[in-house]
Amino acid sequence: MTRPLTTRRSAPVARDRAPRVTAPKGAQGRVWRACPGRDRQTRLPISGSAQTSGGGILGLWAAGQPALGQPALGQRVLGLLASGLLALGVLAGCGREAPPEPPVGIWSEGERALIDSLSPIPPLPPSPGNAVADDPGARALGHALFFEPALSANGHISCASCHVPDKYFTDGLPLARAIGTTQRHTPTIIGAQWAPFLFWDGRRDSLWAQALGPLENEVEHGFDRVAVARVVFERYKAPYEAIFGPMPDMSDRATFPEHGRPLEFNTNHPHNMAWAALTPGDQEAVNRVVANVGKAIEAYERALLPGPAPFDRYVEALKAGDAEGGGHLSDAALRGLRAFVGKGQCVNCHNGPLLSDLGFHNLGLPPTGDGSFADVGRSLGAAQVKMDAFRCGEPFSDARQCEELRFLNHTFDDFLGAFKTPSLRNVAMTAPYMHTGQFATLDDVVNFYRTLPSKAAVGHRELVLDLLDPAVDTQDLVAFLESLTGPLPDPQWRSPPSKEQP
Ligand code: HEC
Ligand code: HEC
Repeated sequence: MTRPLTTRRSAPVARDRAPRVTAPKGAQGRVWRACPGRDRQTRLPISGSAQTSGGGILGLWAAGQPALGQPALGQRVLGLLASGLLALGVLAGCGREAPPEPPVGIWSEGERALIDSLSPIPPLPPSPGNAVADDPGARALGHALFFEPALSANGHISCASCHVPDKYFTDGLPLARAIGTTQRHTPTIIGAQWAPFLFWDGRRDSLWAQALGPLENEVEHGFDRVAVARVVFERYKAPYEAIFGPMPDMSDRATFPEHGRPLEFNTNHPHNMAWAALTPGDQEAVNRVVANVGKAIEAYERALLPGPAPFDRYVEALKAGDAEGGGHLSDAALRGLRAFVGKGQCVNCHNGPLLSDLGFHNLGLPPTGDGSFADVGRSLGAAQVKMDAFRCGEPFSDARQCEELRFLNHTFDDFLGAFKTPSLRNVAMTAPYMHTGQFATLDDVVNFYRTLPSKAAVGHRELVLDLLDPAVDTQDLVAFLESLTGPLPDPQWRSPPSKEQP
């Protein structure tokens, strides 16, 4: 039986992190908007200091939240500000009469504060769990490993098979395909560096811990950690040892089997039996190698950053005092931007410079395929990340402060069917869309927000998501989304390293 939406007890926003509010730059603690036709201004006071994009002092915090002193977190400009503004009707208008639509490209202060909070792209956040995250040697090794087909069951699959560099590190398919077909769509890696939780369901808490997932996934690389360690031993021993120190002797067949990995739910699998036969010390030695493989891959992935898009050039010009924004956005894109931060309410979830709150939401996507696969998303992912042997605070991690995990409420019931809000940077280049890949075009995505079909595949649609206002034009919104396309990462990172490297 389905629970009627109106009786839901839980908070409307599936937020699994400590609530934080960050003021957009220049908000100076107050955001207000003049009410047309009124003699008063609506003011929405916001306490605290304004956030600077370079990090340092975290911007605004909900009452009682201690500052973490971690710039990466502070840069995640979150939805509370936006939701607060919207809920109070500051952007939607003042009172009941609909205010006349202001001219294209002329912004209220409230709109400007929101627009300014979406750009520029902040500096790369640190990765405290990975001591070699910015080490050039680790980056060169990770570069080679990312393109290494020997790290797969059939010798043909590498990370780049699905994260195709020239497709903005996606594959263009609804569901990813390698050894077999997965049940989710391939997200880009560009921009993933800011996410506290990786995968659509957030079941890993760092880029380096994420990398072991596809290697051991039966339908992706179809490999196992003992074989991964052996390939590294045979092909990359010298560069590995230069960064991480001595490797276990993986050529010693009396100690290490051909294949081996832990399989909690398939204990009779030969890989699991071989793994169970290893001593705890040998298991640890192999785990250490695969953790380091992940750390090298993360060092490479940290080079795959979003670059400035026409939208960023527009905001830069606005901030420099050019009311025309350098002419970098078309009228359609400007109307789309107004809808995005206003009536369309997109900025409720797609906020901050990545246009993502990096949180998890159930949009009530309609079922796909024959509808028999119920993907519960975050409700399982949140439980999994808490049990991951490679998570923050565990011996393989170089981090001891694990706020994101500490604040993770994995029993939060709105997590059912919730998935991570994707960044919208380069979104025009990464079709198809959603964790299911069920929408072929951006028009289809906007039409989904316009109609919000009532039958959700899993769980319930979040109350915070309203039908898209019919006054918002699809082509305008799409034009704005297209203005978020920046350049691909540097060519040197888009093909395998030359043979001399690493
Ligand atoms: C079969 C295609 C395939 C291969 C091969 C593959 N991936 Fe992925 N990747 C995916 C899919 C599908 C997801 C989303 C899976 C999920 O959420 O459950 C994903 C998710 C990710 C993410 C998370 C992004 C985010 O924003 O949360 C990263 C990072 C990533 N992959 C890196 C890698 C690396 C590194 C490798 C090689 C070790 C790799 N992938 C191999 C398909 C693939
Ligand atoms: C309640 C939060 C929320 C709101 C409001 C919201 N989105 Fe989303 N958006 C998401 C989440 C979560 C996903 C991924 C859902 C999934 O795959 O299950 C998503 C996916 C998308 C995608 C697909 C991206 C990709 O790479 O697959 C686009 C495009 C998009 N949203 C645009 C918009 C626009 C435009 C609006 C305003 C009309 C909007 N969103 C409003 C949370 C939201």
